[in-house]
Amino acid sequence: MSETGSANIGVVGLAVMGSNLARNLASREGNTVAVYNRSPERTRLLTDEHPEAGFVASETIEDFVASLKTPRTAIIMVQAGKGTDAVISQLTELFEPGDIIVDGGNALFTDTLRREKAVRETGINFVGAGISGGEEGALKGPSIMPGGSAEAYVTLGPILESIAAVVDGVPCVTHVGTDGAGHFVKMIHNGIEYADMQLIAEAYDLLRAAAGYSPAEIAEIFSQWNAGELESYLIEITAEVLKQIDADTGAPLVDVILDEAGSKGTGVWTVQTALDLGIPVSGIAEAVFARSLSSKPAQRQASVGLPGPSTAWSVSDKAAFVEDVRLALYASKIIAYSQGFDAIVAGAEQYNWNINKGDIAKIWRGGCIIRAQFLNRITEAYAENPGLVALVTAPYFTDAVATAQDSWRRVVSGAALAGIPTPAFSSSLAYYDGLRAKRLPAALVQGQRDFFGAHTYKRTDKEGTFHTLWSGDRTEIATEGSSH
Ligand code: 6PG
Repeated sequence: MSETGSANIGVVGLAVMGSNLARNLASREGNTVAVYNRSPERTRLLTDEHPEAGFVASETIEDFVASLKTPRTAIIMVQAGKGTDAVISQLTELFEPGDIIVDGGNALFTDTLRREKAVRETGINFVGAGISGGEEGALKGPSIMPGGSAEAYVTLGPILESIAAVVDGVPCVTHVGTDGAGHFVKMIHNGIEYADMQLIAEAYDLLRAAAGYSPAEIAEIFSQWNAGELESYLIEITAEVLKQIDADTGAPLVDVILDEAGSKGTGVWTVQTALDLGIPVSGIAEAVFARSLSSKPAQRQASVGLPGPSTAWSVSDKAAFVEDVRLALYASKIIAYSQGFDAIVAGAEQYNWNINKGDIAKIWRGGCIIRAQFLNRITEAYAENPGLVALVTAPYFTDAVATAQDSWRRVVSGAALAGIPTPAFSSSLAYYDGLRAKRLPAALVQGQRDFFGAHTYKRTDKEGTFHTLWSGDRTEIATEGSSH
């Protein structure tokens, strides 16, 4: 196929996200957008509803490809999984070397590694691109995290920059790294999103259950917090959700929503990947587990009568408690992001990606679900010290946690005394104390492992590995690694 069409970019898959992305692309100077959907009704609906977009619409994938100018560039916006594979193989058949296939779905990065390798062998570029911001973001300006080759980004970059959210004049898109780097970073974004949402939910639960505020009052508190260092999209929408009154019952909507949280899987992927990489992501993991726990109605029903605190714990100064919760939320959020960026560093090392952490924080300042003023602080921290070993050790964050930690400790201990579950708050504090501890009980774990499994241990005072003859005279021998 050598003749080329007029469209510089195409979208395959016209459900809400795909349609909104196509409309966003068409609204930008210099873009002519080709569109195709397996069922043509959806294509006709989009072109009928948006004639102003000037879409180049096709009802067969062959016509769609023919409508693209070279290097043909198409963004796939279909359900992650088999649907994506089907479209990739169709496009690989019809595209030519140098053309660019973009998967804009939430694909697992290891699938993207596999797909990119297979497609690259044909000379065609394959780009896994994380697109964050939901349906509104797709239409008005998402944060975009493309991987793939530098060659592909020469063509694709300017197109994505034309539709991305913009903060301080900078589009929220960057070439994250090669092959699966984009989908990897989007996965970490989602993991952080889970932690952020769980932390906010725990703050709400504390203000409700411990201090007795109503959803409307808590909405007001969140709106006030949104004017400060916690300013973020998630805090903003939380206030909106808490303000909402259910039309049927007149009760706060949050009180009629079933308390069983769903999950499409990206948070689980983040935790599984972090475990494989050996990176603690306790805040993200507790957020995933909290969703799992909430979705166990039989176990919860059977346990609802289990005994709680024997002595009552109550909030004496509500205003002071609100400030304590705000500071505990901010400190826990710092830990969750610090852990998320640790996972990015470990992933980059494992998969040989050159990921610029400051650039990732910068493109997360707008368009995506975790967008927040706080990301400016992370951008600054990495600009000041790109080799930062732990975000929480950056001066700004060290000071922020120093200011917050007494409140953080009061909130976590108060929650425990009140019997209010705060898995993300408390695991983040435990991680923080583990990170800063001079000595950890891991020394005892090494002794236990050596006792029952002769797994050996190192010493603080001399080189080498050692084993104690526990079942014999308990002398210590030097070994060269464990014999098990
Ligand atoms: C985004 C969101 C999005 C997310 C869905 C559902 O960046 O726009 O993170 O990609 O996958 O909102 O996520 P869960 O069902 O896993 O909560």
